[in-house]
Amino acid sequence: MKQKIAVLTGAGVSAESGIGTFRDSNGLWEQYRVEDVASIEGWRRNPGLVLDFYNARRRQLKTVKPNNAHRAIAELEEKYHVTVVTQNVDNLHERAGSTNVIHLHGELTKVRPVDCCNENDGFSEKQVFDIGYDEIHIGDLAPDGSQLRPHIVWFGEAVPKIEKAIDIVEAADIILIVGTSLQVYPAAGLYRYAKADAPIFIIDPKDVNVHDPNLTHIKDVATEGMASFRKLLSEREKNFE
Ligand code: APR
Repeated sequence: MKQKIAVLTGAGVSAESGIGTFRDSNGLWEQYRVEDVASIEGWRRNPGLVLDFYNARRRQLKTVKPNNAHRAIAELEEKYHVTVVTQNVDNLHERAGSTNVIHLHGELTKVRPVDCCNENDGFSEKQVFDIGYDEIHIGDLAPDGSQLRPHIVWFGEAVPKIEKAIDIVEAADIILIVGTSLQVYPAAGLYRYAKADAPIFIIDPKDVNVHDPNLTHIKDVATEGMASFRKLLSEREKNFE
């Protein structure tokens, strides 16, 4: 029976692919006002600005590739049952080979009708369309006649997949957190649902504000940190043999 690993990732895991993080110096939220481009109020105020913001991020996503951290996370599937629970909206985990990815905050390559549902019911996946790296503009309508919007969870909206993510963390034997400042809830609170005896590893080059007896902080960038994590895992596997 393969042990279960829950891998909780944030923007830092994609940093070495060339996608900027949000809160590091010169991060995305220093270039744009988050309330203008990533909130439901911003969408209501100026939908065109929001569509341009995500069109630009989709164009960039087409030009970048997974890095060795994404690949190392995918390779964990050889020996472990891995679920990636990511806050990222990029598709780099999938492109690196991860087969079990939950996107808590939506997916950049997907869009859905703006009228498909109310904020709390969530949306049925059948109303979600994959446009790859294309753009959408005001006037691009869904089959139901309503405006298409990015399939992204904006500030002020519910996170429909959080319950599923909690189940994944509660069932995990090992928790690996890579590249998130753990500032945005409910995603930031997920690790607290870990089993009492589940080791928690955090890969981040900066100090982390997590104080847990089971915590190992691998203070490094994601690619190097994943190499160290793999070494720690092999030592752990030896102890279990
Ligand atoms: N390798 C690993 N971690 C890194 C690297 C790197 N090369 N570079 C930066 N980091 C770390 C930073 O130290 C920080 O802890 O990645 C984290 C990035 O934090 P944020 O920019 O806040 O990104 P994230 O935690 O994913 O943001 C969460 O906020 O705006 C919302 O919806 C958006 O999903 C996003 C959420």
